[in-house]
Amino acid sequence: MAVAHGYPDTDIEQILITQEQIAERTAEMAQRIGERYSDTPEDLILIGVLKGAVMFMTDLSRALPIPNQMEFMAISSYGSSTSSSGVVRILKDLDRDIAGRDVLIVEDIIDSGLTLTWLMKNLATRSPRSLEVVTLLRKPAAVSLPVQVSDVGFDIENAFVIGYGLDCAERYRDLPFVARLNPEVYSG
Ligand code: XMP
Ligand code: MG
Repeated sequence: MAVAHGYPDTDIEQILITQEQIAERTAEMAQRIGERYSDTPEDLILIGVLKGAVMFMTDLSRALPIPNQMEFMAISSYGSSTSSSGVVRILKDLDRDIAGRDVLIVEDIIDSGLTLTWLMKNLATRSPRSLEVVTLLRKPAAVSLPVQVSDVGFDIENAFVIGYGLDCAERYRDLPFVARLNPEVYSG
């Protein structure tokens, strides 16, 4: 019960990445990213997609050794609840212009890559100085994507995962680790 943070123990099939592993990897990635952008003329802009990327984004922001600012977008992807179609609608856009700025998209997880491909195209039309992607998690389907992902935290198995921002019907985002969800939870 202590591990499941108040959720039934049986909801969590297996912890894939611990809180400590996430923190250690985030610190490593932040150092690498910081070195790449050390000559950035203005503060780096992190763009996170609500809500999944929030936990990673705030931890990465605090771990970066360079000044950075946070922006958020909310989008809805048409398709089933477990797979995305790549057809995307903006629910909340950026608050600011990113023209001429160094922009780093911060993703929680890349699966088919359809959402990210759409986002990259959309943001590229706004003339940023540079546009790169960092993701905490990557599923097998995304390994061969043409989209250039500069930093990947962890390559994971092709399972539905929850925790550290990732949800199932809005639940489990608050867990400090990434875990495989018991399929009985979502199959009813
Ligand atoms: P695509 O296929 O467009 O999907 O790369 C990326 C988005 O799909 C969601 N996603 C997940 N959410 N557990 C989740 O909670 C998962 O295992 C999972 N796989 C994909 C997520 O919103 C991501 O941004
Ligand atoms: Mg979700």
